[in-house]
Amino acid sequence: MSDLKKKKYFYGKHKIDNNDLKAVIKSIKSGTISQGNQLIEFEKRVSNFCKAKYCLAVSSGTAALHIAVLSLNLGKNFFGLTSPITFAATPNSIIASGGKLGLIDINKKTLNLSYEKFLNLINFQKKNKLKMPNLVIPVSFAGSSSEMNEIFKIAKKNKIKVIEDASQAMGATYKKEKLGSCKYSDITVFSLHPVKTITSAEGGLILTNNKKLYDRMKLLRVNGVKKNNNPSWTHNVISFGLNYKISELNCALGNSQLNKINKFINARKNIANYYKKSLDNKIFRLQLIDQNSSSAWHLFIIIFKKKITKSKKMNFYKILTKKNIFLDLKYKPINLMPYYKKKFKLKRYPEAENYFNQAFCLPIYPGLSKNDLKYIVANINKTARDLKL
Ligand SMILES: Cc1ncc(COP(=O)(O)O)c(C=O)c1O
Repeated sequence: MSDLKKKKYFYGKHKIDNNDLKAVIKSIKSGTISQGNQLIEFEKRVSNFCKAKYCLAVSSGTAALHIAVLSLNLGKNFFGLTSPITFAATPNSIIASGGKLGLIDINKKTLNLSYEKFLNLINFQKKNKLKMPNLVIPVSFAGSSSEMNEIFKIAKKNKIKVIEDASQAMGATYKKEKLGSCKYSDITVFSLHPVKTITSAEGGLILTNNKKLYDRMKLLRVNGVKKNNNPSWTHNVISFGLNYKISELNCALGNSQLNKINKFINARKNIANYYKKSLDNKIFRLQLIDQNSSSAWHLFIIIFKKKITKSKKMNFYKILTKKNIFLDLKYKPINLMPYYKKKFKLKRYPEAENYFNQAFCLPIYPGLSKNDLKYIVANINKTARDLKL
């Protein structure tokens, strides 16, 4: 069996090198393992990288979203919207903050929340004197920005807050600005989970240019405790909060990975370019990346042009699994998940469901070689042709 056949290919994988290991060990040896200099450095470097005024590092992308929603003080039973094609953490941040969940279908081409449908929903609510949304969380799905200019404009006009869930898109750009600059959002968050652009093992980042929100989120991260210069028993709890702190070890890894962010994104971009030119474009269509955007290429998605049956799709998956190519599919639409469906009586979202029926995610991560890619593409194209997909 050749080396290529022995290798297993999954949709994503982290890349840790010796410098990362050294950085983590150094941070343990320093004696401060939580809330020290690594955290301060990490936050400063990320806010410089994104060109936002304030950055907070927290224990996960989920924590980042939760704190971000809480900081907006939207009140009881607020109405929060997001895309059906996202990870559970996005709707959960609305629910955990006391909100009612609503969804907006995706744009068929970009796979991101459609701003036209966002506007339609607002107009429908107004016309029928229904509850207006208070919050929208567009998701930069697969590493590519939503049409944030349009979304932010519509939101501002209607007094709706915007949190950009860019968990999958650290390092991506929109209109020449890095995501996280918060030019088109009140708050932007990133995840540092292992398969993301860079990782801190687990972790999350929150960016904003709003000092008031930053101060609130800082307290939300530490159980609402405001320290003073006096003994600890004189410290006061001045707001609600939780423990969403991130350790120095995680920040040391994050700092070390940040040194390589451009290299990682370039590697992903090269893989995406190879796929784009080698996959059979009579069989597959790809996610449209808006001309104003550059993707961080978190996922590489193929969508069958012809309508395919569940059993053919499963055959395609099984044949490739035998070749050690383990396809994935992010995500089953939120409206089809039993918990949300029951709790919020969600409607059907045809574009999201159609995407789910027709798509797969191919392996994409730094470390895949030209030979790996040739092997993957040859098998994808051949299997699709053999199955007449
Ligand atoms: C779109 C999106 N939002 C939120 C999250 C949650 O991030 P974390 O896993 O760091 O909690 C993820 C992670 O997969 C994600 O992809």
